Amino acid sequence: MTQANNASIESLLAETRVFQPPAPDTLGFKAPGGRGPRGWHIHSLEEFKRLHKRSIENPEGFWAEEARTVEWFAPWTRVLDWKAPDARWFVDAKLNVCHNCVDRHVSAGYGDETAIVWEGEPLGVRTGHPAPGSKYAKTPEIKRLTYRQVQSEVCRLANALKALGVKKGDVVTLYMPMVPELAIACLACARIGAPHSVIFGGFAAQAIVERVEDARSKVIITADGGYRRGDVVKLKDAVDQACAKTSLVKDVLVLRRTGHAVQWHDGSAGGKRDHWWHETVPKMSDQCPCEPMDAEDMLFLLYTSGSTGKPKGIVHTTAGYLVFVQMTARLAFNLIPSSGQLFWCSADIGWVTGHSYVLYGAMANRVATLIYEGAPNFPDNARFWDIIERHKVTQFYTAPTAIRSFMKWGTEFPARHDLSSLKVLGTVGEPINPEAWIWYHEHVGGARCPIVDTYWQTETGGHVITPLPGAVPTKPGSCTLPMLGVDAAVVNEQGEELPPDRGGLLVIRKPWPGMLRGIFRDPDRYVQAYWSRVFGKGAGGERTPYYFSADGARRDKDGYFWVMGRVDDVINVSGHRLGTMEVESALVSHPAVAEAAVVGMPHAIKGTGICAFVTLKSEFLRTLPGHPDDAVRKALSDHVVREIGAIARPDSIRFADGLPKTRSGKIMRRLLRDVAAGVEKITQDTTTLEDFSVVARLRESDEE
Ligand code: PRX
Repeated sequence: MTQANNASIESLLAETRVFQPPAPDTLGFKAPGGRGPRGWHIHSLEEFKRLHKRSIENPEGFWAEEARTVEWFAPWTRVLDWKAPDARWFVDAKLNVCHNCVDRHVSAGYGDETAIVWEGEPLGVRTGHPAPGSKYAKTPEIKRLTYRQVQSEVCRLANALKALGVKKGDVVTLYMPMVPELAIACLACARIGAPHSVIFGGFAAQAIVERVEDARSKVIITADGGYRRGDVVKLKDAVDQACAKTSLVKDVLVLRRTGHAVQWHDGSAGGKRDHWWHETVPKMSDQCPCEPMDAEDMLFLLYTSGSTGKPKGIVHTTAGYLVFVQMTARLAFNLIPSSGQLFWCSADIGWVTGHSYVLYGAMANRVATLIYEGAPNFPDNARFWDIIERHKVTQFYTAPTAIRSFMKWGTEFPARHDLSSLKVLGTVGEPINPEAWIWYHEHVGGARCPIVDTYWQTETGGHVITPLPGAVPTKPGSCTLPMLGVDAAVVNEQGEELPPDRGGLLVIRKPWPGMLRGIFRDPDRYVQAYWSRVFGKGAGGERTPYYFSADGARRDKDGYFWVMGRVDDVINVSGHRLGTMEVESALVSHPAVAEAAVVGMPHAIKGTGICAFVTLKSEFLRTLPGHPDDAVRKALSDHVVREIGAIARPDSIRFADGLPKTRSGKIMRRLLRDVAAGVEKITQDTTTLEDFSVVARLRESDEE
């Protein structure tokens, strides 16, 4: 297991508490059970199990029925065309995701309902901007957009993109702060059929270059900057640096958010490269038809880490993704349109959670979604609770790493605020330790809100294992049962399902509509990464590949899943997915580094921290007077931040004169994980270790 978090795995294994779902009426919604034109909800475990069984036995029937909750321009001829590992869902159908998230609500007479509630970060504190020593206002900046307003803004931006020459199929890169315009930009791309590729604002210029080049993206939408913990994150500067390294980008549309001075550039072939949003977009018409998209046309591309140094461009398409996120958002969070709900997912739109739930899942269900620009501890540790109280948030969805920070800050911060509007709480991104679950339950959920621990991945599009709040009893630390239509299992290397309480590989045995359709321009890697490790038997007994999640898990006697973490070289740092190889490549690109190996190590707040073992080049060592380890550590650490972004800053850098290798020259990462975790007795098989003394020296390399 890469996440060598032994203490938390032990507490997961010892966890036996069960929490019953609340009665549907105490969930506070007039939640209609059963089916209806707006979808349906499930309010008992029996009903859930019955439906799940049916959805697995007759997936096409199940998904055809579910797909009726979406509006289509032309119907499908077949629900599924599956030639493993390639799936086509709702074959030949035509639709548009923006139409389904916006226009259909306006046409049905709900144009005046709130679509987006946005709150900016600056609030009542001193900061370097707008003028040093000045103060922000006592109340934060808040914007509310109705579905009708979203529609006009989206049309204007869609027309502006068209005016820049963006056509159906062209990838548009978005590198923006958490502002309503980011949601508008995604929807505008969807409207004209230009797949978006959102890059999280915490990534550095080099990450933009790699993604833009891989996607062959010629247009970037960005902002001068965004606010984070009182500082300005200079996004436009990073785009400028990226554009200096690639000649691909022809146009950059810049939203003015922070107002600080930015450089302005012309295009490489003359003419303007940079365009202000406020000078371009408002002039455009607010009418722009939705492009009829094929069910399998690409909706977006989202880069995520794998086990090599190169991020993978995960491809999601139109119909299956929409049907899947609409259903999973509705069921997992009990979303009901026109019922005054305000859904808040605190993830950045730069990650898949933001795509599927901040944006598409909430808006497809015609529920208002809250977008908050900044940090949870600005201006103080109660900011999230203050937001929940002021806006009366009904569903709150965040990551275990955030919950562990809240725990560290103390119960007094949530206790100061009235959180009684909350009905459902969610977590995502990494296994949640039972202590954090219980704290969340008591101090945020007032011991009354069900917690949905949603297991899924960038690749799965939406929740694949999760409790449903009104139906499934929960156990702290378990993501409980597979979603309707998802055939998840824990199997051994031979693809055989394991009996209860045996650890194995988490796989999905049948296709589901939200599944990725590939890795952009890399079909071989798609097969190799997901469909080449585990095989089972198909309906006719034939050998068939299972989708391999790269996570380890076990099921208990009730069939509940307990995810143990990644079994590949990917680590989850504060719920952010990083490839250890990406950090290694960044380290070895520094002139002083001869070799580097990066592993995850237990971290009280982040879940997993980054531990790098580094050997320095001897010519570099010779130039060093004495032992300036800390200066070198800082230089290497800053270098990684420059290359990848702040999320990849190592928590510990240890210098060694050699790394443990097998006789065939492979770095023994498992051994390094034990060393990083401070495991006293190394139980790994070290018989293949080339030089035994390396381990002893590595232990001594601890920086403390
Ligand atoms: O290891 C699993 C962990 O996050 C990985 C997926 O990361 P990413 O693609 O960035 O998507 C995160 C948000 C969906 C998985 O392989 N993971 C995600 N949710 C959970 C989880 N581990 C345990 N429990 C979860 N609820």
